[in-house]
Amino acid sequence: MKKRGRFSTRKRNKTNKWTNIIAGLILVILAGSIIWIAANGWNVKQAIESLKGDTDRPDEFLEVEPNPEEPKSGGIETDEGNSDEATEAPLKDIEKAPALPEKEKPAEKPGKPVEAEKKPSSPTGYIEGQQLPKEPKYVKGVLIANKQFPMPKDFAPGESKEARAAFDELAAAALTSGINLQAFSTYRSYDYQVTLYNRYVERDGVEAADSYSARPGYSEHQTGLAFDIGEVNHEKHWASTSFGDTEAARWLGANAYKYGFILRYPEGKENITGYMHESWHYRYVGKDKAEQIFKRNITLEEFLGIR
Ligand code: DAL
Ligand code: ZN
Repeated sequence: MKKRGRFSTRKRNKTNKWTNIIAGLILVILAGSIIWIAANGWNVKQAIESLKGDTDRPDEFLEVEPNPEEPKSGGIETDEGNSDEATEAPLKDIEKAPALPEKEKPAEKPGKPVEAEKKPSSPTGYIEGQQLPKEPKYVKGVLIANKQFPMPKDFAPGESKEARAAFDELAAAALTSGINLQAFSTYRSYDYQVTLYNRYVERDGVEAADSYSARPGYSEHQTGLAFDIGEVNHEKHWASTSFGDTEAARWLGANAYKYGFILRYPEGKENITGYMHESWHYRYVGKDKAEQIFKRNITLEEFLGIR
């Protein structure tokens, strides 16, 4: 009896020990989760995303997912017959974005066209108090869209047919090297940029958003000549800094100019372009100009003499 009693006590002690260990582990996991979610601003989705390692995405990644708000007629990549909005990628799980403070709101009324010699008057690169012009700005026959040269709100050319044809040529050439390219975001309307930019401001604040996303009226995507390029079936690199390390990005960097495209926001030129390096954002300027810009290793701003 005594022996069995000792045995039962040992067994009970062992069971208690394991119960304590498991309870301790659960407590540690719970506490860890709470701390992690708190560190992500109590945003559970963001906490999960950061666990997945998506935190270095600055980013336009929200632009590459289907937007439930926008009419869609054929996937992310569109053809000419689709509505302008269809090429826009869109917003995942957008919650209601608070309106921007009045001073940050893009001007809605067309005002005086911007003068080329005007210099940015704020650290963001934007000209304070600038109104959107009545006409888009062409320099040396090239449509320019940057932080100093916005477009009218109603400037809505849609995706450029010439740029799409050039992209198709480029993609066919890449395919012969085993690289399957896709333009995942091309033309974006003013209204769409409002949604995108507000979302980024809500998530990251104005200063950070301004480093990678254009304010409405200022996005080169509104020209219909900007193509965000990635690889088919490699969506995880779309609009991500990680795309820069891929063979596809290297191929584009070396060959896009032959088809009339330039890397619009190169590394080390942030103070000129106003944006962080985007290895996926290409701008169609035509073969001659693209070759000159590529060979001189300059930005569009420098080529046009506006910086
Ligand atoms: N990401 C580029 C700068 C845009 O928003 O147009
Ligand atoms: Zn882009």
